[in-house]
Amino acid sequence: MAMKPRITLVGAGNLGSALGVSLRQAGYQIDAVVARARGRSLRKAQSLAKEISSRAVSTRRARIESEVVWLCVPDSQIARVAESLVTNLLWKGRVALHSSGALTSDELSALRRCGAAVASVHPLMTFVRGSRPALAGVPFAIEGDAVAVRVARRMVADLGGTPFTIRKRDKAAYHAWGTFASPLLTALLAATERVAAAAGVHAKAARKRMFPILQQTIANYVGLGAADSFSGPIVRGDVETVRCHLRVLEEIPPAREAYVALARAALLYLPAKNRRLLGEVLK
Ligand SMILES: NC(=O)c1ccc[n+]([C@@H]2O[C@H](COP(=O)([O-])OP(=O)(O)OC[C@H]3O[C@@H](n4cnc5c(N)ncnc54)[C@H](OP(=O)(O)O)[C@@H]3O)[C@@H](O)[C@H]2O)c1
Repeated sequence: MAMKPRITLVGAGNLGSALGVSLRQAGYQIDAVVARARGRSLRKAQSLAKEISSRAVSTRRARIESEVVWLCVPDSQIARVAESLVTNLLWKGRVALHSSGALTSDELSALRRCGAAVASVHPLMTFVRGSRPALAGVPFAIEGDAVAVRVARRMVADLGGTPFTIRKRDKAAYHAWGTFASPLLTALLAATERVAAAAGVHAKAARKRMFPILQQTIANYVGLGAADSFSGPIVRGDVETVRCHLRVLEEIPPAREAYVALARAALLYLPAKNRRLLGEVLK
């Protein structure tokens, strides 16, 4: 396969858009952006295609000519889209990739049966509407057929990312880890805003006022590790303070549940004084 194979992206959503732009910047030709034959879907694909000097085509009409096809559709659609692409080209000698964190390359077995080499290639990064993070420095978990893995590793390296091998059987746990690192961290911050509201601080102001402490916490964690970054009433063993928090949080049950679950995890994984008493308070 050529050093820089041509690529077809299927799906112009959050990942597809960020990936398309980064691949183009890394010198890859994006042959086509494939979308469902619906007005809104095609418009999104057209807008991305324009940005990355490509063309938008609908799934039904897609005559794919590229050496690599990268499926950027929701996890639930990967196998279905793979099935639907079986007749779009001769797959022998081509590479098909998807980017699910939890699912393995076996989701693409319909294309593997037609002769394609397949792999899953998951960036450990968050992509949302309104932000397109650069992929430089991003770790990518990769598993699949040898040829597809080789091609994917080279593409990731060209993007400035860091490829690493993940075993098929570890993918679910790997993705649960990633979910803790970003989506559930965001859920924690959403709960945090509700607690700020109980203290009379609106969400927008809370976000702004929390920024310095959030930044410092992440910097401490990355630089010092979890144990040496842990401050607050649990490490000090301030049992009465924790009791008082639990009382006020009775007004916000989901936030109280999150507090108790995380405080219990802290008693297991982090330094704490008055561990036994705190354990009783948190029952
Ligand atoms: N977002 C992240 O942070 C992130 C991070 C790492 C990996 N991933 C992985 O990336 C993949 C895509 O996630 P995403 O967040 O980019 O999702 P998304 O923003 O919802 O985008 C999905 C895209 O797929 C299109 N699509 C849906 N069903 C389709 C079908 N049957 N045929 C053709 N196109 C279809 C959607 O278009 P229409 O609905 O408009 O038709 C949309 O453009 C997933 O496997 C996910 O696990 C995401």
